[in-house]
Amino acid sequence: MKKMGLNEIRESYLRFFESKNHLRLPSFSLVPKNDKSLLLINAGMAPLKPYFTGLQTPPNKRITTCQKCVRTGDIENVGKTSRHATFFEMLGNFSFGDYFKNEVIPWAWEYVTEVLQIPKDRLYVTIYLEDDEAYEIWTSKTDVNPKHIFRLGKEDNFWEHGVGPCGPCSEIHYYKDEGEIVSVEDFVEKSDNDRAVEFWNLVFTQFDKDEDGNYNKLAFPNIDTGMGLERMATIMQGVDTIFEVDTIKSILEKVSELCGIKYGEDKSKDVSLRIITDHVRSITFMISDGILPSNEGRGYVLRRLLRRAARHGKLLGIEDIFLHKIVDTVVENSGEAYPELKEKIDYIKKVISIEEERFSETIDAGMEILKEYIEEVHKSNQKVLSGDKVFKLYDTYGFPLELTQEILEEKEIAIDIDGFNEEMKVQRERARAAREENTYMGTDIKIIDTIPSEIETRFKGYDTLELKSNIKVLIKDDAFVNSIEEGTKGIIVTEETPFYAEMGGQAGDKGIIFTDNFTAKVEDCKKNIGGKTVHFVEVVKGSVNLNAEVTLKVDKERRQKIANNHSATHLLHAALRKVLGDHVHQSGSFVDDERLRFDFTHFAAVTEEELKNIEDLVNKEILKLNNVNTEEMTLDEARNSGAMALFDEKYGDKVRVVSVGDFSIELCGGTHTSNVGKIG
Ligand code: ALA
Repeated sequence: MKKMGLNEIRESYLRFFESKNHLRLPSFSLVPKNDKSLLLINAGMAPLKPYFTGLQTPPNKRITTCQKCVRTGDIENVGKTSRHATFFEMLGNFSFGDYFKNEVIPWAWEYVTEVLQIPKDRLYVTIYLEDDEAYEIWTSKTDVNPKHIFRLGKEDNFWEHGVGPCGPCSEIHYYKDEGEIVSVEDFVEKSDNDRAVEFWNLVFTQFDKDEDGNYNKLAFPNIDTGMGLERMATIMQGVDTIFEVDTIKSILEKVSELCGIKYGEDKSKDVSLRIITDHVRSITFMISDGILPSNEGRGYVLRRLLRRAARHGKLLGIEDIFLHKIVDTVVENSGEAYPELKEKIDYIKKVISIEEERFSETIDAGMEILKEYIEEVHKSNQKVLSGDKVFKLYDTYGFPLELTQEILEEKEIAIDIDGFNEEMKVQRERARAAREENTYMGTDIKIIDTIPSEIETRFKGYDTLELKSNIKVLIKDDAFVNSIEEGTKGIIVTEETPFYAEMGGQAGDKGIIFTDNFTAKVEDCKKNIGGKTVHFVEVVKGSVNLNAEVTLKVDKERRQKIANNHSATHLLHAALRKVLGDHVHQSGSFVDDERLRFDFTHFAAVTEEELKNIEDLVNKEILKLNNVNTEEMTLDEARNSGAMALFDEKYGDKVRVVSVGDFSIELCGGTHTSNVGKIG
């Protein structure tokens, strides 16, 4: 068996699947797109869901990735055990209606036994109870010892995660000890005791589970596999815990150096060292993906992890803020594979320092409150602090439960844990309810998303505001129809369109679609999930049939106003960066004909004076009467020209670069004014 570093394993996996004609994609952001069912990406397949269900067409039928993942379900165990982590990387190879079991099983075996050279006698395979096909392939197409194949039930060998793509799976395990596992009972026991480690899950994604629990057969079967990179590294490096893996170990050593505490000498201190190590990895990656500490959703997950790490620093006797000092080591170890870490390193450190600072302040305020609570408890001769008060400290003052518990223990006061858990449950349910507003895999399946993918809707609106085209789809009352008539509120889809569909914060165009005896007002224009442009219309005169040729005409004045506001947004963005600093990035924006709004992240409130400077800068640029230039180029060319790209946006091969003099240069698909003077 080769001794391989974590980074080396990642590269060898991705290369192996490239040699099997897979397209290697960079990791997707930890922030899910169009998927309200998830707070954070938790598996390699999660960002690829629309490809699995066919809602979107993948750039290649075979894809391989190493995906950053965060899972906090087991957070209480992190640090206490040696294998739990909130951050991990998942290697995966995916087939979208291309290869299936026949290919993936022998490939997995080839990679494990020939590339990684793991001894075959240490390898065990589990398959789903009823999956004779998988058994047949394992035994005929690989030389795995048939006695090393065990059949397990749905709980172990059927992969599903809520609703969405799922199916039976086959897992590959490594047995750490000498000798042989002889029965399925023995195998289960060895797995439970961590002696047999599952490291690769091959999912045969055949079904799409719906809200009602039905397993709908997918039109074409897919492959989704997941290999825990850190876990694989423990095997390749012959170590027992992820904290001994090369890259993670160097972070742990940094933490231990900062605290002046040796690892392995005191059990409870080891727990703290491991918690800090794991949590700093998570928060570094989360912040690099644009997440900021807050009191809800992802931001709250980040805050909890950061404060938990800070708190354990205090337990280890660190007085000052220190978490930001560990970031360099995280970036040294992962920066090659994740360039966003290198790019944002200063920003990441700044966000961490400010939040840790803030926590130090809340701790003090919380301590005051806690003292009052303690007095009340003493006065009333009680021995228990009620759950809602503990929860208040936790929720409002960012007070970790363990801290409250510790302090109260000294005063011989107990905590009403049940009451606290009850409050937590209520809060979790609120969060879950907020997440589950969606329907299907977090993507609202609207009828517009079922428009056949072969229909084209080419956008011509950069060059023209009026053109003739044929109607390809008509929708009325949530159904595809052959004609629409006066009084209908419906949807028109045409082969070509000058209408800009709402995107990148820019509102959709309005205007009219007409023929000699038909007129429809276009009230909005959007893209469906597959990127097709759809016009939301109200028919004000006559009727029109499918395939008819119509004229599409954008409201010119409104478009110009939107264009002015969009160009102004670019000037504002550039001005913000000049005045506040390069860490300012667009985290959202809204542009229509009446106003513009620009969301950005900054660590403090913008002062009056800064605001004035920003305003002056923008006004000065407008008065320079520079032309707005748009150019198409490759992403690399754009990067070299210094264009600002959005945080975690994925761009195609060709990008549009919009620039105003040398003041602003930005990647943008929006429509702009020809000269900034028109902003007026
Ligand atoms: N999606 C599968 C998993 O997460 C591969 O285990």
